[in-house]
Amino acid sequence: MSVHSSDIKRVTTHIIQEMKTRGEKISCLTAYDYSMAGIVDAAGVELILVGDSASNVMAGHETTLPITIDQMIYHASSVVRAVKRALVVVDLPFGSYQGNSGEALRSAIRIMKESGAHAVKLEGGLEIKESVMRILSAGVPVMGHLGLTPQSIYKFGTYTVRAKEEVEAKKLLEDAKMLDEIGCFSVVLEKIPSALTRQVSESISIPTVGIGAGPYADGQILVLHDVLGINKGFKPRFLRQYANLNDIMNEAITNYIKDVKGKSFPNEKESY
Ligand code: KIV
Repeated sequence: MSVHSSDIKRVTTHIIQEMKTRGEKISCLTAYDYSMAGIVDAAGVELILVGDSASNVMAGHETTLPITIDQMIYHASSVVRAVKRALVVVDLPFGSYQGNSGEALRSAIRIMKESGAHAVKLEGGLEIKESVMRILSAGVPVMGHLGLTPQSIYKFGTYTVRAKEEVEAKKLLEDAKMLDEIGCFSVVLEKIPSALTRQVSESISIPTVGIGAGPYADGQILVLHDVLGINKGFKPRFLRQYANLNDIMNEAITNYIKDVKGKSFPNEKESY
């Protein structure tokens, strides 16, 4: 579905909740810049995440840890300027909320004030309960993130599937219930078994959004650059690649170079 109408109805957290209630799946993608966000929004996704995966995708870091709150605000404000319909959610980056709930609140407020985004996302369960509650009490909608939480990669040691064992699965379910009870509007479930996603999604009232978490989540999210095939070589099992932009872009740029070197660009019509 494309959205061409001039009086576009904004997607809100309430609309996301209603979608779960009537069993309509929620489509979500990441975006980090103005041009891409405009394309993603016009195509009709309900939710755009300015993920800290910008650290990998946009800046070339190996992990999400180095990205700063200023850099997240830069990406988020660029996205917000382009988006007319989707709900824009921004990741609180590593180190901006783990210290204490006051720090978490300050970071969330900075993101909301300086980027114009609509909600924030934090990784973790019980460990960050107080911070999430403080942010919620300031009127800022919060999305949780459980399962594989990339900001803790050095604790996990690998990017493999999480919560396969009973103890971790039980904690994840409890964390999801807690995030629901305290008032989060949604929770991302990353790289966990499908059966656990189903159990969580059926046990909580707020929508789950899965990535590598199987078909039972209330919505799905992927990293835009992976969906478009921009990053060659990243092909995890959970990823469905819908285009091969790397090859398409390479061909276009190769042709441009050929035309410049062959002196066929610019021609007369392309000159003043
Ligand atoms: O940073 C990100 O892109 C994310 C998604 C993978 C959910 O957190």
